[in-house]
Amino acid sequence: MDAVFEATVTAPVNIAVIKYWGKRDAALILPTNSSLSVTLSQDHLRTRTSIRASPAFVTDRLWLNGEEEAVSASKRLVNAITTARSLRAELERRQRQQQQGNVVPLSEWPLHICSENNFPTAAGLASSASGYAALVSALGALFELPQSASELSRVARVGSGSACRSMFGGFVAWQAGAADDGSDSLAVQVAGHQHWPELQALILVVSDQKKKISSTTGMQTTVETSELFAERVRTVVPKRMAAMQRAIADRDFASFAKITMQDSNQFHAVCLDTYPPIAYMNDASRSIADLVHAFNTALGRPAAAYTYDAGPNAVIYALEGDMRDLVELVTYCFPRPEDTTPEAFYPDPFGLLASPACAGQEVAAPKLAELAQSVGRFPAGTVRRIIHTTVGDGPRVLPSSQSLLNPDGLPRRVGE
Ligand code: DP6
Repeated sequence: MDAVFEATVTAPVNIAVIKYWGKRDAALILPTNSSLSVTLSQDHLRTRTSIRASPAFVTDRLWLNGEEEAVSASKRLVNAITTARSLRAELERRQRQQQQGNVVPLSEWPLHICSENNFPTAAGLASSASGYAALVSALGALFELPQSASELSRVARVGSGSACRSMFGGFVAWQAGAADDGSDSLAVQVAGHQHWPELQALILVVSDQKKKISSTTGMQTTVETSELFAERVRTVVPKRMAAMQRAIADRDFASFAKITMQDSNQFHAVCLDTYPPIAYMNDASRSIADLVHAFNTALGRPAAAYTYDAGPNAVIYALEGDMRDLVELVTYCFPRPEDTTPEAFYPDPFGLLASPACAGQEVAAPKLAELAQSVGRFPAGTVRRIIHTTVGDGPRVLPSSQSLLNPDGLPRRVGE
């Protein structure tokens, strides 16, 4: 049997606590400011990607969540693949120079790429970060590239800026860099995923009918029109990057929470200062932010921190010991939509709602019962789904048994 040249990987989602918003070079995807994110566990949110190279393939092909898409339709995809191929070509040249026998010309063979998210696109969660990180990690594994994860993060970056941060687990900084060619604009790990094991995240997926302005378009308009934005880039972000790295190093949740919420708020303020203004948060998003502040006031300390990206969904960070209270409060105030089962609404991966009395029916903690009563219950379905997860590791290479491609190099069908 001929050798098969294939790699399968999974890559995680990341949620920024210091936001990336604005490019100084749109083609190379070079940001105006550094940013910092937390990588979420691949047990709950991940992209899996298989890539095979073969001289028998006619052309590069891509299947995304079961649908074939034209590779040439996405300039960013073409850029990422071309960059990875040129790294492989360089490696093959070196191998030939060193007269190593049997250099496999993978850089010249067409690719079949099959990629799937384990979370519905309809959940409104950004998939480009985990998607491009999976693509680049799979190409790195397939091509046996010697480059480090930081070096490969530059390749993920040309696919989608935030993707460079999904090349690592734990806590990750994307250093904006200063070079015109983008060589110093890359991701570095600030702390590993086991550094702060108590830190968890609760994602509240919010209903939204509005067509949203993409991050790519929105941030360019901000750069061109917002005066507040210039101040953010010049003075606020550098200060916060340093303070956030200290908070993470010290596992100081109070500081982590305050900076996270302030940076999310400033990002959305800058969006409103964009002309015409951009509003990503909706009434439900704002109610969740109010609830988090009320939760912190009721407990007498910062116990939860919200952050919002270019959409209305909330991500709430909290320590494990406070999650039960938070989940009880949230499931009480935001009842499950009638067309969803309790397991689909909140799968309860950590067994917090074991008692049926607590499953969205009441808030047991005495300190929070009064708060729950005064906030009351929003209409069922205001929050459509709750994902509870932890901090997680970086991209993983899987065995060939986990491939999404069948022996012919086409997407596996169910049961195949
Ligand atoms: C609000 O990485 O999606 O999520 O580089 O144009 O692909 P492009 O944008 P993208 O922007 C993400 C912006 C954000 C904040 C963040 O993740 O830091």
